[in-house]
Amino acid sequence: MRERFPGIGDDWARFDGPAGTQMVDTAIDAMADFLRSGDNANGHGFFAASTASTELVGDARSAVARLLGADADGIVFGANMTTLTFAFTRAVARAWTDGDEIVGTRLDHDANVTPWQLAAADRGAVLRLAPFDVATGRIDPDAVTSLIGPRTKWVAITAASNALGTMPDLAPVVAAAHAQGARVFVDGVHLVPHQPVDVRAIGCDVFVTSPYKWYGPHSGLLWITEDLRDSLMPYKVRPSPNSAPERFETGTVSFEAIAGIRAAAAFLMESGVDPIAAHERDLFALILRGLQALDGVTVYGPGDLAARTPTVSFTVAGCHPDEVAAHLASRQVAVWSGSYYAVETMDALGLATTGAVRVGVSCYTSPADVDRLLAAVGELTP
Ligand SMILES: Cc1ncc(COP(=O)(O)O)c(C=O)c1O
Repeated sequence: MRERFPGIGDDWARFDGPAGTQMVDTAIDAMADFLRSGDNANGHGFFAASTASTELVGDARSAVARLLGADADGIVFGANMTTLTFAFTRAVARAWTDGDEIVGTRLDHDANVTPWQLAAADRGAVLRLAPFDVATGRIDPDAVTSLIGPRTKWVAITAASNALGTMPDLAPVVAAAHAQGARVFVDGVHLVPHQPVDVRAIGCDVFVTSPYKWYGPHSGLLWITEDLRDSLMPYKVRPSPNSAPERFETGTVSFEAIAGIRAAAAFLMESGVDPIAAHERDLFALILRGLQALDGVTVYGPGDLAARTPTVSFTVAGCHPDEVAAHLASRQVAVWSGSYYAVETMDALGLATTGAVRVGVSCYTSPADVDRLLAAVGELTP
């Protein structure tokens, strides 16, 4: 796989994938080709370049829909997951009244917490957050379902924690929410690069993901279930289309990013997410065991490989996480330190002030990368 990633050389071991991966060659080329083609024009016009742009967007919606087990008419393109979620929560909150409830989790990235929190505060509604088990990093579905009641309007839950890698069991949550007439918004940003996704099988009402986490360009996208597409009224300007999915796309979309997204989705489908996951799991097993074996290293979240992505957070005794990250950088190992915006998760783990160090395996990670990482962490331990 490595030769498909021009940004990956032998100089750096890149474990920063959960914050954004390197782009695959076909996605880079697709963006550049589009920009050179002369097709750089708004869609829905009568001249050839405009028609080509319209076709590109339609094709990209279909490619993403195939990747996610969704339908193309529900795919909305946007700047990133956070922006899409702020816009979406504002749209749904229009129908909320005093005392309505939203259920979230402490395992979620803040982009799936604060937009709901602020929208709820605007409407007199309340956001209730389900705790997770800090010893295992796992969330008991009952912790979420016990918060769902007749006043619940939406449940906002992650498909995979970007801090701990844990993947909640979504089925009981979706069933409990729907039984109460509530809707389910799933944050799939950290899941899509690591597990095959079928939004119909998940049964959620909305699914969000960010192509720059799966070898595409910086962008976000949201899938919305059929019956909500026309009934919801997003904030939009008057002349823009009233039909879905365009009515959720405020302003001009990034056609060049959409060209890259289409290619990145094709790359994942051609490679197969299952083989990618198998490669990542093998390398991640070495990392997990290696970190667990080091004195002074504390690994957060599950100590095993079940129901998780190849992402782990850890601390090293006597070293601030930023010092660990800086030391690893001096050995040309790229990792993130801090909260990675998983504010509630870090707080629950008692890491609100310092954060931790996060390592994530991507499809281009090599055994040599793993050796370099473990050797560099080992230099900080007794
Ligand atoms: C799990 C998760 N959700 C949401 C986000 C926010 O995504 P975006 O940067 O596209 O707004 C991230 C980004 O790191 C994430 O990891």
